[in-house]
Amino acid sequence: MPFESKIKTIEWLGESVKMIDQTKIPYSFETIELTKCEEVAEAIKVMIVRGAPAIGIAGAHGVTLAAIELSKKEKDKKTFLLKLKERAEFLKSTRPTAVNLMWAVDKQIETAESYGGDDIDGVVEVLKKNGVMLENQDVEINKKIGDFGAAIIPEGATILTHCNAGALATVGYGTALGVVRSAYAKDNTIRVFADETRPRQQGARLTTFELIEDGIPTTLITDGMCGYFMKNHMIDVVVVGADRIAANGDTANKIGTYTVALAAKAHNIPFYIAAPLSTIDISIKNGDEIPIEERGREEVTHINGKTICHPDVNIINPAFDVTPNEYISGIITEVGILRPDYKNSIADAMKKM
Ligand code: MRU
Repeated sequence: MPFESKIKTIEWLGESVKMIDQTKIPYSFETIELTKCEEVAEAIKVMIVRGAPAIGIAGAHGVTLAAIELSKKEKDKKTFLLKLKERAEFLKSTRPTAVNLMWAVDKQIETAESYGGDDIDGVVEVLKKNGVMLENQDVEINKKIGDFGAAIIPEGATILTHCNAGALATVGYGTALGVVRSAYAKDNTIRVFADETRPRQQGARLTTFELIEDGIPTTLITDGMCGYFMKNHMIDVVVVGADRIAANGDTANKIGTYTVALAAKAHNIPFYIAAPLSTIDISIKNGDEIPIEERGREEVTHINGKTICHPDVNIINPAFDVTPNEYISGIITEVGILRPDYKNSIADAMKKM
């Protein structure tokens, strides 16, 4: 049984949520069980759970946990909903870039508000159900992305990916790595090059972990090496995930993605984004409007708890960058591959959501 189908990155257990602690991989493989909305918020913040779709589902279950707790204190539905919305805003504030978090939390709030009955327990029940539906839907969507994406992978290709857009970044299967998985199922001569992805090393720690566990041949490279391998004809196609896609196709993904896209363009290598439609934010016109998360200095100054630089050095640590749409060959979604002009193809695709 493949590794990805043995694990669920995040899972609703009825009254609590279980998630893989991604900060421990590859040293150990551990899960934690959370019963409070605040614990989920903290898990998102410190990246126990990370990856746009996975934090979306975590946020959705966080709303349910808040509802369970509030239902024990509040008797008035109006006050209950008001307090639930406050918790939802708090969950959304934990990480600003990946729009899937806002999308999934808002879906839960819509569900709570549209519940017709007066009983608060009824609201809790619909939130539980909707959260599980979103959780299951995520895997189905990723399999569709995988199948559409497999069609653009040439026979025997070497695919470069950046960060982790795999089973661990979603509930299961993955987006960019979903494309890899579906392509590998058809052609076991394909290969993956995984960028290390400084500073949090999601490529080294997570992508190589899940691909090697699934027996998919993977080579780890450091972030600065991609141009070298492209120049030497060792990369055929790039597939990465996304944290937020603007209405014109400009795409935010893990810091370093833009550099990969520039190198790919210079070497005439196709560069694809793989993402569900929930990653598209049609409320923003272009990538300049995407908020970029700034993370702490220690992510850059330290590796494995040890400092690697002078203690007084200046640090800037943006967690994401934006790749302009002209560098993107296609956006692989659950409704097909969107092509330029993205303004039109995205608007059409969103009608199918
Ligand atoms: O900071 P992270 O680890 O949450 O960043 C994750 C990424 O940038 C992924 O590539 C993106 O979320 C797509 S995951 C399917």
